[in-house]
Amino acid sequence: MGILTLDNFDVKDKTVLLRVDMNCPIHPDTCEILGTKRIEEVVETINALDGAKIVVISHQGRVGRDDFVGMEEHAKQLEKFSNKKVRYVADVIGSLAQKEIKEMKNDEIILLDNLRLCAEENYEFSLEESARTIMVQRLKDLFDLFILDSFPSAHRTHPSLVGFAQVLPTCAGRLLEKEVKQLDNILTVAKSPFTVVLGGSKVDDRLKAIKLLIKKERADHVLLTGVIGNVFLRAQGRIKFPLNIKDEDEMVASAHSLIGDHPDVFSTPVDIAVNKDGKRVEIDVRDLAKDDEIFDIGTKTLEHYSKIISSAGTVFMSGPAGFFEKENFQFGTKSMLESIADSMATSIISGGHLTSALRQFNLTEKVSHISTAGGALVRYLTGQKLPMIKCLEDAAERHAKA
Ligand code: 3PG
Repeated sequence: MGILTLDNFDVKDKTVLLRVDMNCPIHPDTCEILGTKRIEEVVETINALDGAKIVVISHQGRVGRDDFVGMEEHAKQLEKFSNKKVRYVADVIGSLAQKEIKEMKNDEIILLDNLRLCAEENYEFSLEESARTIMVQRLKDLFDLFILDSFPSAHRTHPSLVGFAQVLPTCAGRLLEKEVKQLDNILTVAKSPFTVVLGGSKVDDRLKAIKLLIKKERADHVLLTGVIGNVFLRAQGRIKFPLNIKDEDEMVASAHSLIGDHPDVFSTPVDIAVNKDGKRVEIDVRDLAKDDEIFDIGTKTLEHYSKIISSAGTVFMSGPAGFFEKENFQFGTKSMLESIADSMATSIISGGHLTSALRQFNLTEKVSHISTAGGALVRYLTGQKLPMIKCLEDAAERHAKA
């Protein structure tokens, strides 16, 4: 890798800005953090920063959505997992944040508030523009080193991700270093057919992923579950009523044209499990009624999908097949993961929900690679140069010339 790591820098007495990705699933009513994997992963890099003053930054959620919350709870969780005091500062670039950073002592850790509270962090910039943003200009002189350790957002060009890297000595944190090395090793041996298993609820992201994976010949089969599966079932005319999800018409149209262009690629559920007063009832997709709550895929779908998985060379799975957190509806997610674990395929499992599911079902050791990343991972798998990697390579080049 042509990038610098923490091994290239002495961080003692230095003030370091550590960009991580602690964007976690959040309970829509209680605002509680539902999966802490991304917070746990930050610890390895923090432990490698002995003697430094560490300022941690991350985004959480998207503005206007239920998961857009402050970072106070993240600080508590980080403190718990790192076993080190972590002070939450309810500010990002204002005078409070600047004062707190200037007054830090060695080995102190602070976590600033949700980066997306700053308007600029919600826009994508060119690398040059990002260096001129107010965020970067206000904070840059307070730091000696910038550490990029947020692989899940490696495909974004927000100022906190690419801007500081233009103006500060920059290297990769331990997590990013490890993830890129492992992925590169896997991708050199990855073989076809490529089977992509997509579920969960982020439909717009999944549609983008499908288009990209097909275009780059990384998806010979796409097996659909979850809300994205329902969208394709609508597009096929097998679900006849609206799903009542945001931008439904556009997404169904998009699914429709994908099926038309690639008729042999997509598989959708033939049966599903609905929630009847907490009980699991499996029905044929054609018998679905408007008020049925779809909570999982059914047994016949699983059998069909498992056959395709067993003959895959490489499997990429992102998003659960149903509400695996509820015992009656864990069948789909658990069985799909078991099929993947039992297959001879190289397997890459992506996203926080599936990482938790693997743990819950004791399958963590049986897959080739687990990543907390979603969109960034898809792009990496398709061979795209991610902006974060480009920034790290540029920074390494500048370092070598200096
Ligand atoms: C992710 O969860 O994929 C990353 O944190 C990026 O989040 P975003 O898609 O809201 O930019």
